[in-house]
Amino acid sequence: MAFYSEKVMDHFQNPRNVGEIPEADGKGEIGNPVCGDMMTFYIKVKDDKLEDVKFKTFGCGAAIAVSSMVSEMAKGKTLDEAMLITNASVAKELGGLPPNKMHCSNLGADALHKAIEDYRSKQGGK
Ligand code: FES
Repeated sequence: MAFYSEKVMDHFQNPRNVGEIPEADGKGEIGNPVCGDMMTFYIKVKDDKLEDVKFKTFGCGAAIAVSSMVSEMAKGKTLDEAMLITNASVAKELGGLPPNKMHCSNLGADALHKAIEDYRSKQGGK
């Protein structure tokens, strides 16, 4: 088995913010064409801040840990700050990912950014 950091194992076994926001202000869905895994982020925005962030991930353990970490990093941030979260910074926060699992981290920040873009486009492209 690949060696996962304790943080990865923790977020995989106890993922934070799992679920759906029924009346989400923005939604972002990303799929990985290589493995077929899917990740969807839902956001609730108030005063330009991410008041709530939830996700649903159909994917491997690393993808679940990544989604959980992204949701924790993003909550409470302004939209601009959340746009600065990168796939690399998520992997770093998780204490690293095995090289053959780095592609799994590519979904996380991208799905979050897509949800923010979705929200912004609904606001009239502001
Ligand atoms: Fe597909 Fe990890 S194997 S996201």
